[in-house]
Amino acid sequence: MCGIVGIVGDKATARAVVDGLKRLEYRGYDSAGMVLASNVGFEVKRISQDTSSVALLDDWVNAKEVEKVSAAMGHTRWATHGRPSEINAHPHLDCSNQFAVVHNGIVENYKEIRERLLKLGHEFASDTDTEVIVHLVEERFRLNNDVHQAVSEAFEELEGSMAVVVLNLKEPDSLYMMRRMAPLVIGTDLDNLFVASDVPALLDSVTTYFSVPEDTLITGSVRRGKVVLEPVPEVLEVDWDISKVDVGGYSDFMSKEIDEQPRALRDTLAGRVDKVGVISLDELKISPEELKTVQKIVIVGCGTSLHAGMVARYALEHFVRVPVEIEVSSEFRYRDPVLSPTTLVVGVSQSGETLDTMMALSEARASGARTLVISNVVGSSMARMADAVLYTRAGPEISVASTKTFVAQIGALEILALYLADLKRTLFPSEVQELIAKLNDVPNALSEAISSISDYEKTTQTLLGYERFYFIGRNVGYPVALEGALKLKEITYTPSEGYPAGELKHGPIAMIDDKAVVVAIASKSALYEKLLANVEEVRARGAKVVIVANEAPVDSKLRGDEVFLVPRVHQLFSPMVDVVPLQVMAHYISVSRGLDPDRPRNLAKTVTVE
Ligand code: M6R
Repeated sequence: MCGIVGIVGDKATARAVVDGLKRLEYRGYDSAGMVLASNVGFEVKRISQDTSSVALLDDWVNAKEVEKVSAAMGHTRWATHGRPSEINAHPHLDCSNQFAVVHNGIVENYKEIRERLLKLGHEFASDTDTEVIVHLVEERFRLNNDVHQAVSEAFEELEGSMAVVVLNLKEPDSLYMMRRMAPLVIGTDLDNLFVASDVPALLDSVTTYFSVPEDTLITGSVRRGKVVLEPVPEVLEVDWDISKVDVGGYSDFMSKEIDEQPRALRDTLAGRVDKVGVISLDELKISPEELKTVQKIVIVGCGTSLHAGMVARYALEHFVRVPVEIEVSSEFRYRDPVLSPTTLVVGVSQSGETLDTMMALSEARASGARTLVISNVVGSSMARMADAVLYTRAGPEISVASTKTFVAQIGALEILALYLADLKRTLFPSEVQELIAKLNDVPNALSEAISSISDYEKTTQTLLGYERFYFIGRNVGYPVALEGALKLKEITYTPSEGYPAGELKHGPIAMIDDKAVVVAIASKSALYEKLLANVEEVRARGAKVVIVANEAPVDSKLRGDEVFLVPRVHQLFSPMVDVVPLQVMAHYISVSRGLDPDRPRNLAKTVTVE
């Protein structure tokens, strides 16, 4: 969703802002804009050309004379209130052109504030909720003549989740920054101040990062070459480097990130188990004694993260012998769930900022449950609010379509399952060790799957003309089917659904004909034969059959089926390798249709609205 980049100091240039915005493109947007301010005036540029907006802003910057400014602030907007248009693009200004604001999130009480301000004579230029912020600051400033106090009072009035940055255009040496359940990170080098929605925007300039605490106004100023932050926020450890947000020699980030999966999983598993076999989590504010008392686990997440949670449910129930419920975050929160201090609610989120999951976790905390977060972003909002954190170490994921973080999330959740099984003694220590060794084999299996990418692509060529895709699986193959369908629909816009294979005959089989492809996740397991029986049913109705298997069914060639061959690993860990050909298939179809797999229409990488 919206992206923010702000700079004060010598490095505040239109070029630096647009370069930062480019690194936030993955968040999704439909318009873009920036403000450049110096002691002699300011300039605003807004462009609304959907996903070309940042490129056009780049052209505008290229054509412009380089000028010395004191502060520069840019924004990519993902429309919520008011259609995508130039007037609705940020930054927004107040009536007196003294303040500029950029904002990510939603001001829930904007209507009443707007009505009040209209009565006071304020004139609005846009249809956005954002614009009320800047008029509110103006109004407060008119009353108290103190910028800090005006911004602080304005922020206090705003309801909803959001990240906001205000620039005083008359004195452009300071930024006023605030966040509530939305991402915002501050950075500094020796004499410049930076702020952005996410670390990748700042990686080439910043030496020290700071996390912005919830609901706290931070004022950052650069005066006489010195950066001052008030109050001084907590330092954020960031170990990402610029190469990780560079597409390198790849045609797009998705193919790079598919390739990075063995490394992402290896790093996520590394160092979790010490020499004597003790597993550790990252930040654990729940004692092992308390964790031993856990009677029920609830996993919440959205999209791909939900699917990773669904995979882990099988291992958690099998190894830890506790009931595991799994629910879409946006539904969990509104169903009055039965929770207690012996319930562990696990939030799975790559970004750690997805509002639905964050609200689900806060609901869980309010009901007295313990919370644990699996996140890919150190210091993310969820990581900070939960009782315990287990980080995936996949590195920044830029493509909107999640790939390497799915695999890393499953790896982290399997570690959690083994940790709890060890703690509760539902497995013998020797069994835990054996399983850890098997888990540590998966990165190599993933490398083997990656080395088959050209085979998977060749197979996919035979599927290009089909209209509809159905993915089926049983047991851990079921969430893989859901993930395969999600990947295909999000980056190719092809109708695709995932089902538990046994459910086909209860309805979906009515859709099967010779225009349909059925992809069956059929790695060898106790349910293998049953799954092949379901495959027979769809083949008999004319569907093109594709089988994901660690051993090709003997008669597949004879029957004209296609096979995606994957390496064999422990059955409960197999989703991490079974998913690879499905990611490759979606990517191949997307590129062959001339689409951009990294930036699918209508989607945002981090969804910070409900
Ligand atoms: O950052 P999160 O993991 O919380 O994001 C949740 C979903 O929006 C996300 O997994 C989405 O479904 C994927 N990007 C799709 O590939």
